[in-house]
Amino acid sequence: MKQKLFFSITFTFLASLASSQTCLRSCGRIPLRYPFGIGEGCGDPQFQQFICCNGDELTFKTHTGSYPITNIDYTKQEIYITDPSMSTCACNQPSKGFGLDRNAPFDFTEDTIFTLLECSIDSSPIFRGGNNSSFPMCDQQGSPICSYLYSCNAISLLNLPISTCCVYTPVDLGPSFEMDLQTLQCSSYSAFYSFNGQQSNPENWKYGIALKYKINVYNYYPRFCKDCEKSDGICSYAAASSSFFCNCPTGINTSSSCYYVQSYSNGFRVLPWLTGIFLVHILAWILRWVSL
Ligand SMILES: *[C@@H]1O[C@H](CO)[C@@H](O)[C@H](O)[C@H]1NC(C)=O
Ligand SMILES: *[C@@H]1O[C@H](CO)[C@@H](O)[C@H](O)[C@H]1NC(C)=O
Ligand SMILES: *[C@@H]1O[C@H](CO)[C@@H](O)[C@H](O)[C@H]1NC(C)=O
Repeated sequence: MKQKLFFSITFTFLASLASSQTCLRSCGRIPLRYPFGIGEGCGDPQFQQFICCNGDELTFKTHTGSYPITNIDYTKQEIYITDPSMSTCACNQPSKGFGLDRNAPFDFTEDTIFTLLECSIDSSPIFRGGNNSSFPMCDQQGSPICSYLYSCNAISLLNLPISTCCVYTPVDLGPSFEMDLQTLQCSSYSAFYSFNGQQSNPENWKYGIALKYKINVYNYYPRFCKDCEKSDGICSYAAASSSFFCNCPTGINTSSSCYYVQSYSNGFRVLPWLTGIFLVHILAWILRWVSL
């Protein structure tokens, strides 16, 4: 009995030694790769302030709120987020809107479409000077989208005129995009990034916001990170020393790939195991003597 307990304590202790990697490999089911990183100093500092891992939920932060990330497409360099306050075909609910931070290295993909719902025809600035095309905020080509959305049960119940809907395309839908629904005098909004091949079936649209990101000015994936990730490491950038480093599965940081540190660190990993096993045997021996 005592022996068993001792074994399990030793094992737990040794297991904790082995998993000392600072940077997270994934958050929930979303794998983390450069430029994203969770853990102190992990990933690219330019991106650190915008993502966060709450338990097993990866979230995207802006000044308007915190939004669950549903997927990251590293090849297309896009992240997909949902806003729990936005409306879909299944649910219409009030929202304050959505905004991107001015300094964020993110922008909307061309597929992302915002639709303002339940806007006040009398007071909403989006309709003011409606005939005046000098500042078109609502896309007239988007009226079919409004029709489809207003045909959804959750919205059709409200019996609102279709003119209270606006497919929102302000001139600058770029960084620092601000959709303040209170100012715009609308009660809710919907966003989606794909018709999912069925434009006339709003129930199946892919609701959410797709954002693209740029790694650096030239937007090329650092060669160092490719090598680091190939060797099972997590690529990060240290702003203080303006240099990349690779956080290896053993916890060691290297300025090359983890292949080079593997053989060296294996020695260190095996040592505590051997010491542990040795101690377990001695203690088991002592325990046996005491109980005799
Ligand atoms: C590796 O780098 C991370 C991030 O900067 C740091 O938190 C960690 O302590 C470093 N690990 C070692 C073993 O130096
Ligand atoms: C249309 O825009 C022009 C220029 O911005 C402005 O002078 C004019 O008052 C506007 N007309 C209406 C009806 O809003
Ligand atoms: C908008 O302009 C068209 C043609 O310029 C005009 O016939 C129409 O009455 C205008 N509508 C409003 C609401 O001002």
